[in-house]
Amino acid sequence: MRFDVLTLFPDIFAGYLGQSLLNKAIDRDLVHVDVYDMRNWSTDKHQKVDDRPYGGGPGMVLCVKPVVESVEDIQKAGPAPGRVVMLTPQGRKLNQKVIEELAQEERLLLLCGRYEGFDQRVTDILQPDEISIGDFILNGGEVAAMVLIDSVIRLVPGVLGDETSAVDDSFSEGNRHLEFAQYTRPREFRGHVVPDVLLGGNHEEIARWRREQSYLKTRERRSDLLDD
Ligand SMILES: C[S@@+](CC[C@H](N)C(=O)[O-])C[C@H]1O[C@@H](n2cnc3c(N)ncnc32)[C@H](O)[C@@H]1O
Repeated sequence: MRFDVLTLFPDIFAGYLGQSLLNKAIDRDLVHVDVYDMRNWSTDKHQKVDDRPYGGGPGMVLCVKPVVESVEDIQKAGPAPGRVVMLTPQGRKLNQKVIEELAQEERLLLLCGRYEGFDQRVTDILQPDEISIGDFILNGGEVAAMVLIDSVIRLVPGVLGDETSAVDDSFSEGNRHLEFAQYTRPREFRGHVVPDVLLGGNHEEIARWRREQSYLKTRERRSDLLDD
């Protein structure tokens, strides 16, 4: 799976791309991430890509020309144009269903905004899939892009050591509930003990207990998921 990220702050991604799961996936050629600096498409001598909003008001707006031209150039530098995703608080909300849909793509081109966001004509011309990571305002789209990459790569075959761990995850396709409680050693800590059923070795009973726990936890914390 290939990601192309367009940003004004490419260095933000350096540490993240070097972290364990993603780093390993990149090394094994399962995932490919290219990060591009939007300023490289500026024709201004100070490499400006933003300007004051027409009609007045605070802040700056990202200009249509460098954004549209950079996307077109990046699309050409690859086997397929891919799906263009704009990170914006005004987009459809990201959830596991959307992540599963995006994971079907071979290539995602992620547009990270800054300041007051993009000139409307970027959206009109590129018709991106507009995605929000929640009803709050970030300073820029970079953290949102990392959230998206991080959750999509879990579904790329071969990235997780054990593919079934994504199947049981909360909200996942086969589950749509919150995951059951997990325990590891020691068996007892400060009087808190591991439930007996998990120690008995009866896989059917364990599966039944986990399904029940998953249902009860979802009912208590996220009954909206059961309504769905
Ligand atoms: C300060 S925000 C601009 C917000 C814009 N003025 C508005 O009210 O919709 C700058 C950039 O951060 C990113 N961003 C902020 N909040 C986000 C969210 N909840 N989800 C995805 N991206 C977000 C977008 O790329 C946006 O262009």
